[in-house]
Amino acid sequence: MTGARPVPSAIDPLPRDVRDQVLQVLDGPVPAPIVQAGHPVLRTVAQPYDGQLSTAELMALVEVMRTTMREAPGVGLAAPQIGISLALAVVEDPGPLDPEIAAARERRPLAFRVLVNPRYEAVGVERAAFYEGCLSVHGWSAVTSRHLRVRLTAADETGSPVDEELTGWQARIVQHETDHLHGRLYVDVAELRSLAATDGMAAVWASEPHPRTAARILGFPLV
Ligand code: NI
Repeated sequence: MTGARPVPSAIDPLPRDVRDQVLQVLDGPVPAPIVQAGHPVLRTVAQPYDGQLSTAELMALVEVMRTTMREAPGVGLAAPQIGISLALAVVEDPGPLDPEIAAARERRPLAFRVLVNPRYEAVGVERAAFYEGCLSVHGWSAVTSRHLRVRLTAADETGSPVDEELTGWQARIVQHETDHLHGRLYVDVAELRSLAATDGMAAVWASEPHPRTAARILGFPLV
């Protein structure tokens, strides 16, 4: 346990109105500060997007989210992570450099895209367990079992419907970001015995195509 620290007197309150939350972010620095675990916004079901923003406001928000995700860097960012309780996420994955890791994790590049009101459902019963992290749980990684294949339904930023199947790492990213919009974090379902500090062993374990050595040495099951 850590020792006693000064206790903040209160959390920073968010504006009640989601558009006001957006305008506050658009008024602030870019990249936007990323909210960390413990903040209630990360445990709140985000409001569905139903036109609360003008087109210009939505596009400006998407740009802030894109820049914030890239500079973090991350492969996905959900609006609650910048203090906005709105069902909106951005994703983009350049893919890994190591072809062996790319093959093991079925990690293919994912072009930048916006997910509005995303939902997913499992396709089949296969699962995959790999190290995963979150910009809102800074400094940690843990093995997380996910559906290998999902059906994603959503809209894009223009309102066009999205309905497609994704596999591998793309499916993982979609599950992680969609979960954020329902107040869920990967640590809710991660294998906690695999927990590794980013400035410690996480890079060692993440260099394995499959986390088999980590599972054996740290003592956790792989699905
Ligand atoms: Ni996350």
